[in-house]
Amino acid sequence: MPRILSGIQPSGKLHIGNYLGAIKNWIGLQDDKKNDCFFFIADYHSITEDYDPREKSKEIFDLAIDLLALGLSPKKSTIFQQSKIPFHTELAWIFNTMVKMPELERMTQFKVKAKKQTYNINIGLFDYPILMAADILIYKAEAVPVGEDQIQHLELTREIARRFNGKFGKFFPEPKSILTETPKIMSLTDPAKKMSKSGGDKSYIALADSPETIIEKIKSATSDTGGGKDKRGGENLLSIFNAFAETKSEKIEYKNYKKDHEAGKLKYSEFKPRLAELIINYFAVYRENRAELSKNPDYIKKILEDGDKKASAIAEVTLREVKKKIGLII
Ligand code: AMP
Ligand code: TRP
Repeated sequence: MPRILSGIQPSGKLHIGNYLGAIKNWIGLQDDKKNDCFFFIADYHSITEDYDPREKSKEIFDLAIDLLALGLSPKKSTIFQQSKIPFHTELAWIFNTMVKMPELERMTQFKVKAKKQTYNINIGLFDYPILMAADILIYKAEAVPVGEDQIQHLELTREIARRFNGKFGKFFPEPKSILTETPKIMSLTDPAKKMSKSGGDKSYIALADSPETIIEKIKSATSDTGGGKDKRGGENLLSIFNAFAETKSEKIEYKNYKKDHEAGKLKYSEFKPRLAELIINYFAVYRENRAELSKNPDYIKKILEDGDKKASAIAEVTLREVKKKIGLII
C-alpha cells in the first residue's frame, strides 16, 4: 500500500490556502483504500517562529478539531502529534550530519522567514527542512500532499534519501509531492504574495471566519488593478471560485465569470457576493462539525493518542534500522 504522509503547523487559524493547497487532498487521499495515510500536527516546526507558550497547547488541540471537522477520519488515517514521537528528532540529528549549510541557506522559506524574524533567526528555523525530511522518511512515505511552497523542502528530502541510500545501501524511497489544482492561493490584499497569516487579517479567509467576515473580506479583496492591466487579483478570486464550485451549475457559473473576466467585463459587484456565498456554504458542515467536536475534548485526545501509538511503532523500527546501517549499534 502506498504510504502517504503530510503535516501542518499549529500556529493559529487555518485559512483557505491551507485547505485548497493541502488538506483538501488529504481528505481525498484517505478515501482511497489503497492508501496508507499519515497526517500529523507539526508542533516542533511551529516553535521555530514566535509563539506564546500559553497558547500553544490550545493551538494544537484546535488544529486537531479542525482537521477532524474537515473530514479527516481516524478510521481511515493515522492522525498524530509530531512531538510525541521522539524518533523524528533523532533521525533529524543523523540527517544533520549529511547536509551542508549552504544547502539550507538556499531554502526560500528560510530566507523569507529570516527576513521577517531578524531578531530571532534561530537554529530551528534553519534546520526546519531537515526535521521535515525526517518526518517523511521515518515512515518511508512515498507521496506527500502539500502546497507549492513546500516543494523545495521535498526536493531536499529526496536528495537526503538518495545520499543515504548511496552511502549505506538502498533503504529510503524518494518521496514525490502531490499538488492540488490550486497549489498556491494568493493573498486577497496583495495578489503577488501567497496567502498566509502573516499578510494581515484581511489578506486571508480563515475557515473559522463568520459569514459576515467572509463577505467583508471578499468585498475588499484586490481585483484587477492598473486600469485592468494587472489581472492577478481577479484570477486568484476566480481560481478560488473554481475550487469551491462543486455542482455542475456552479462549474458553468465559473466558466461564464471567467469568460467575462478575460473580456475585461466581469462585474465584481455580482461576482464577489456570489463567491462569498459559495465559500460560506462550502464550510457550513465544517462549522457544525467543529461545534460538536469542541464539546468532546477527551475524544480528540484519544484519537491523537491512538495515532501516536501507531506512528511510534513504525518510527521506532525505522530509526533502529538506520542506527544499525550507520554503525551505531554495538
Ligand atoms: P503551514 O500552515 O505552513 O503548516 O502549511 C500547511 C499546508 O498548507 C502546507 O502543505 C502548505 O504548502 C499549504 N499552504 C500554505 N499556504 C498556502 C497557500 N497560500 N496556497 C496553497 N497552499 C498553501
Ligand atoms: N513544513 C510544512 C509546512 O509548513 C509542515 C510539515 C512539517 C510537513 N513536516 C512535514 C509537511 C512533513 C509534509 C511532510 O506546511
